[in-house]
This record gives sequence, structure tokens and C-alpha cells, in this order.
Amino acid sequence: MIFIAQVWLTGLSGAGKTSIAFELEAFLVSKGIPAYGLDGDNIRTGLNKNLGFTQVDREENIRRVAEVAKLFADSGVVSICSFVSPFGEDRDLARKIHKDADLKFFEIFIDTPLNVCESRDVKGLYKKAREGAIQGFTGVTQAYEKPEKPDLIVHTEDLSVKESTNKLIELLISENIIPKYIKDDADV
Ligand code: ADX
Repeated sequence: MIFIAQVWLTGLSGAGKTSIAFELEAFLVSKGIPAYGLDGDNIRTGLNKNLGFTQVDREENIRRVAEVAKLFADSGVVSICSFVSPFGEDRDLARKIHKDADLKFFEIFIDTPLNVCESRDVKGLYKKAREGAIQGFTGVTQAYEKPEKPDLIVHTEDLSVKESTNKLIELLISENIIPKYIKDDADV
């Protein structure tokens, strides 16, 4: 029996959320389980392209994403959201939106320390934030509220993307979202 669920990844920019989400999406799809990843790249360029990074805009970003993700989950697709989602209240709202629709919701904290994210600086945004060229950058000039009771914490520092993803797969198995036998022949 396969159940449906919403997997919500939160963490700093550069923490590895999207890499893990794509790996999880690819794994699930390869096993015949419909899954789809939502992130800033496919949401902020379309549906939410009128939103920036003020606290109010982030709140609206997360609210819209949660509503869309709920529809994905409701249609039987495991939806995997990767958003910085720095504010606890916004993540709580995302959880409530799913809970009210009787959908399972897992908050996953991709816990990569700021100095590691900053040293990766894949998009060069931390440098710009330090130089003052970007305002309100999470972890630099705006807060990141760590989740108080996440369903899972992934410390990515010493893990490969596959090892990190494996922790999510194990959570989904232990929560009966996906069957255990799927993992037995898994290559992650
Ligand atoms: S959220 O806070 O509203 O959840 P979201 O995950 O959609 O943010 O977008 C974050 C991504 O936008 C970051 O990974 C980074 O690439 C980019 N970005 C641009 N400006 C900022 C900013 N001020 N703070 C954080 N991320 C930013």
C-alpha cells in the first residue's frame, strides 16, 4: 500500500535542499511512485514571480507553495518542497494546510551550518549579501528560525547527497509511506 505525503525541506540557501529533493524525486519515480519537486526555481519564476524576500513576501510564497503542494499530494503525487522557509509560523501554516486535508506532512531540517553554505556559495549570493548588494539575505541579514520539532534532521556536512537522501527514504519507509521492499533493491 502506498500512501501520499508532503515532504517539506527547510534550511539555509546552499544547504543542499534541492539536490536532495531531486535525488529523492528520481528515486521515487524510478520505483514507479509519482513524485514532484517544487522549489524556488520552478515556483518563483512563475506562480510567485511577483514576490521578493521580505518577511511578508516569504510568508505569501510559503502559503501559495503549501496550497499547491497540497493539491499535488491530494492527487496522489508525493510532493517534495525545497524552500528556505525561514520562519516557524509559515512552516506551521504549511503543516496545518496539509493536516486539515488529512495529508501526511514531514518537516525535514537540512541542517548545514552557515559557514559551510557560505563557503560553497554556489550562486555567489552570500558574497553579494556580505557586500550589501542583496538585502535581507537569510542567515546574513535576516533570521533563520531553526525548526523546533522537525520530523527529521539531516546533517549534510559529512554525507553525500545519496546518503542524505537515504535518510529521507528511511523515514518514508518507517512511516509506511513507501513499502520497505522498495529499498531492498535500491542503489542509494
Ligand atoms: S523562502 O524564504 O521564501 O522560502 P525560497 O526558498 O523561495 O525562499 O528562495 C530562496 C532562494 O532564493 C535562495 O536559495 C537564493 O538562491 C535566492 N535568494 C535571493 N535572494 C534571497 C534572500 N534575500 N534570502 C534568501 N535567499 C535568496
